[in-house]
Amino acid sequence: MTDPFVVPPSFWAEVSTSLWKQAPRVWRRPFDPAYGAEHEVFRALCALTARLDTGDASIQPRVFLDDKQAGFSLDRHSARPDDVDLAGFERRLLAGLGGRELGMVIGDAAILDDVLWRRAVHFLRGLHAAVGTPAGGSHAEIFFGNYQRSFFGAHKDRLETFTFVVRGRKRFLTWPYEALLGLPGVPPDAPLHAFAFDDLDLAPLRDQAVVLEGGPGDVLFWPASWWHVAESVEEGFVTTLTLACAPSTMLAAGSPLRLAQEGFDEAGKDGYYTEDPELPDARGPEGTRAAIDAVEAALARVLEDETFQRGRREATLAWLSASGFKRGPDRLPLPELVPTDRLVADAQILYADITEDAFTCAVNGILLQSTPKFVELVEHINGGGMFTVAELVERFAGGDDQPAADELVEALAHLTSARALRLL
Ligand SMILES: [Fe+2]
Repeated sequence: MTDPFVVPPSFWAEVSTSLWKQAPRVWRRPFDPAYGAEHEVFRALCALTARLDTGDASIQPRVFLDDKQAGFSLDRHSARPDDVDLAGFERRLLAGLGGRELGMVIGDAAILDDVLWRRAVHFLRGLHAAVGTPAGGSHAEIFFGNYQRSFFGAHKDRLETFTFVVRGRKRFLTWPYEALLGLPGVPPDAPLHAFAFDDLDLAPLRDQAVVLEGGPGDVLFWPASWWHVAESVEEGFVTTLTLACAPSTMLAAGSPLRLAQEGFDEAGKDGYYTEDPELPDARGPEGTRAAIDAVEAALARVLEDETFQRGRREATLAWLSASGFKRGPDRLPLPELVPTDRLVADAQILYADITEDAFTCAVNGILLQSTPKFVELVEHINGGGMFTVAELVERFAGGDDQPAADELVEALAHLTSARALRLL
């Protein structure tokens, strides 16, 4: 069973030639099936509740009540299977709101559901082929609420943004960077920076806005340099999925430069990458210069350290394999495979370097440490298709320079756990 969701080449042709970093656009139901359906988003919200129930707070929904950030309540704000569907969840929320407006934003949303993860990866693969891999990485969010005007107000982000309307109607007023240049506080030359107005009267700006509006199945896009504000079209709740990419490495959370920063933080914890510099007495220009040089030399030693470099290369490899997301979905439990099990290739496995005794690959953000004996198998899986465990053992185990049969089955289990393979 393969996902029938497909993005036609003409979509990417238009994005790359006239939209990316250039202009906004609305598509009326360009995909069939749509990028995200109500039942899929409801399933993702219930999966989030299940994580939170077990104390895993790594994804914390942000809640806004009447425009103000409020605390998230596991009782009141989380979707439960008892709600049956998104409409049922909305009814329960509405009953408890007492006329107030609610907004919720859920980050890392792509990893909450297998189908939504595959859609995000499929979409991003097409995008990366069309415009290159955005150096600042990928972000996926669920926006949900009955707010009349976005709690974020008129602002701009650092993101080229696709919004997929799932339920209800959504409208954005958007403006090119130059249109709001004269307003107080707007930097004249920072079209890729984030900036939010505290309290901007939109009335005089409405006429100049490019209005993006859509209903279920519609897709909206605006570039990172464009200002935007969401507003409601009708009463009731609206649900959208966002898939956004930051073009700049420097500015984006989760990008390779930020990963390197994390590496520095690790190195700084106990200084294990480098000897502490011997700082001379810094009085007088010569002493000061010698102290600065000693610190610079220590920093250079960290950057050149083999452990540091390997860690950064592996973090970048994992990041690339997660389509630029900070992380991919959690591992599945290791399956106990038998020879008749059928496996289908479900994701590209990435690698760059193979040494005599080490082969590190990554899939869906998960690093797998292995040996060169498995390169042939990985290449075969990357070619796509469906295989039985017995076929793979027959072909890729037991020969010269091949792993033993039980090693191969163990590797297949790890690849299945990381979702490179899917057990049918
Ligand atoms: Fe935004």
